[in-house]
Amino acid sequence: MISKKAKKQIDSWTEKYPANQKSSAVMEALKIVQLENGNCLNPELIQEVADYLDMPGIAAQEVATFYENYNHKPMAKNIIRICHNISCMLNGSDNLVSHLESCLGVKTGEVTPDGLICVKKVECLGACVGAPMMQIDDQYFENLTAKKVDEIVKSLRKEGK
Ligand code: FES
Repeated sequence: MISKKAKKQIDSWTEKYPANQKSSAVMEALKIVQLENGNCLNPELIQEVADYLDMPGIAAQEVATFYENYNHKPMAKNIIRICHNISCMLNGSDNLVSHLESCLGVKTGEVTPDGLICVKKVECLGACVGAPMMQIDDQYFENLTAKKVDEIVKSLRKEGK
């Protein structure tokens, strides 16, 4: 069930659009609800989002299943989205992925045994000038090196976030 707090957050997005186009906020609404639900969506929540935004359930379902940033099974608290598109790849993202897999002891797409971290390879995140880069929640980390990645992982583990 979508909480009052989440509805308030969704409202702050729907207010940006004409009253009859609340569905324009569907991506943010799904993100808000997913975060509140332990980083995971399910068909009931997606339908609730659709109802709240006055849009057909199938349309919300299409959005939730098209983009990789929505999870449909329990996921780690922190998802490291590392770009492996051309600029990042030319600047060593493949090595960073291998480094992450090695230091976390899991393959891309798997969750660490403590449930804290998962690594996903994603397409261009629009920060090519800072390649190689990755995203955790809404934060971008750019010009990465193995040392920087280690520090970021250490900080995630320290915060138990
Ligand atoms: S190629 Fe990595 S951010 Fe664009």
